[in-house]
Amino acid sequence: MKIIFSGPGLAATGALVVGVLEGGKLTPSAVALDKKINGGLRRAIKADDFIGKASQGLTLMAPSGTRLDRVVAIGLGKPGHLDERALHKIGGGIYALLGRSGSKTASVALDSLDKAKMTAAEMAVCIAEGAKLRSYRFDRYRTKKNNNNNNNSGPPTLGALTFRCRGSDKAKAAFRARDKVIQGVFMTRDLVTEPPNVIYPATLAKRCKELIKLGLKVEILGEAQMRRLGMGALLGVGQGSARESKLVVMQWRGLSRGKAPRKGPEARAYMPVCFIGKGVTFDTGGISLKPSSGMEEMKYDMGGSGVVIGLMKALAGRKARVNAVGVIALAENMPGSNAQRPSDVVTSMSGQTIEVINTDAEGRLVLADALHYTDTRFKPRFMVDLATLTGAIIVSLGSEYAGLFADNDKLAEQLTEAGKKVGEELWRMPLGEAYDKLLKSDIADMKNISGGRGAGSITAAQFLQRFVGRTPWAHLDIAGVTWTKKDLATAPKGATAFGVRLLDRLVADHYEKK
Ligand code: BES
Ligand code: MN
Ligand code: ZN
Repeated sequence: MKIIFSGPGLAATGALVVGVLEGGKLTPSAVALDKKINGGLRRAIKADDFIGKASQGLTLMAPSGTRLDRVVAIGLGKPGHLDERALHKIGGGIYALLGRSGSKTASVALDSLDKAKMTAAEMAVCIAEGAKLRSYRFDRYRTKKNNNNNNNSGPPTLGALTFRCRGSDKAKAAFRARDKVIQGVFMTRDLVTEPPNVIYPATLAKRCKELIKLGLKVEILGEAQMRRLGMGALLGVGQGSARESKLVVMQWRGLSRGKAPRKGPEARAYMPVCFIGKGVTFDTGGISLKPSSGMEEMKYDMGGSGVVIGLMKALAGRKARVNAVGVIALAENMPGSNAQRPSDVVTSMSGQTIEVINTDAEGRLVLADALHYTDTRFKPRFMVDLATLTGAIIVSLGSEYAGLFADNDKLAEQLTEAGKKVGEELWRMPLGEAYDKLLKSDIADMKNISGGRGAGSITAAQFLQRFVGRTPWAHLDIAGVTWTKKDLATAPKGATAFGVRLLDRLVADHYEKK
């Protein structure tokens, strides 16, 4: 779907969207339209229970005296409440109403509003972003295009969405950068949606190479190299699979090395911000086999690495003035004659030994080596890892928040704030010595599960922390938010790419050189 910005006015054809405030007050564009259709809009609002609540929609078909397909009144709620997130939702709502409606073009008329914190152009950008995020679709394996638009389930019909407002040139320029982030989100969604016979460590690594053309440096380590580095924890997870494990390192240099000062606070700006992703391309559980019901969901167990890839694409795409590194740990967790066994002891790259009590607690094992590798190789400004790590985080937080674990309050606060702004919310969970103790092993430095029934997400995070040195670190357990079973305002059901916009925002707000 094309997004277009142009000067104020009411479109004559296609679908026309106008805003209505909470309580039913029409915006100036809505008033102008209502006049054109002889008060038809006001009458329709009265006849319906439409009250202009944010994202509420009301459709009028083909009003006479116009050549419009339809008019949509979209609720804007209270102007004082119109922040970025509310506008994303409104945009998503507009797409939900029009994407498959039969209309080929639509135009949204936006006015400046009293008491609003944003100009019409700024609002247009946010609404456009929401609409585009909602328009995502994965069609690769459909061989028949179902043409049934009556029940709003067929292929999209909407080819272009135009925003008409004052300052449209500014909006167009601002949207260009946002669109780069959306392209990152879409790449993540594609990768997470792909089936595990198509996306496995080698093929996922190959997809990372597509980013080279954006100026990223991409290195792929195979099993031989990882063995030389001593990555016994990661290799143990993949050893039951016919598919070779991989570690991919993606580097974006938004700041040139030549200009870096050697010491002082200025030098910190050149230290790379590092993102690490769990990339278990399919998690059967291994010898600690999962039940078959629902196992198909475990194709999204590479969701963390999918986010890291999409984030790197976003940062490079919008030429972020930051040095950033993405590291993804790729393995397939399979049972088999060479699979690791419960009670195996592996030696991680850090030298610490791990007794593998449960082969299904594999995410922490691949991340252990990826975290240590990143920390020692890059001397990061901070590290943030993302992982669909525990079912327990779904018990705690459902699909509303991702779990946030951090050893650094400043980083935790910055992440939480960024999440609120983009609508990808985090809830901080505790870490502490009492939890750490639960990982004591009788024969190795630690075991990979606590064995007790409580605090599963916390002990998993505690395990990861053992592989982080003094670098500020945060861990996002995204098991509950990576995949949605129902349509959300800014994501159709399926892969959400939760984390891409959040981390892009973290970088934009705090870590880019001005
Ligand atoms: N990939 C799973 C976690 C998961 C569960 C992600 C549901 C998304 C949805 C992880 O590897 C796992 O199996 N965790 C175990 C840990 C347990 C063995 C300590 C779990 O959560 O049951
Ligand atoms: Mn598992
Ligand atoms: Zn897993």
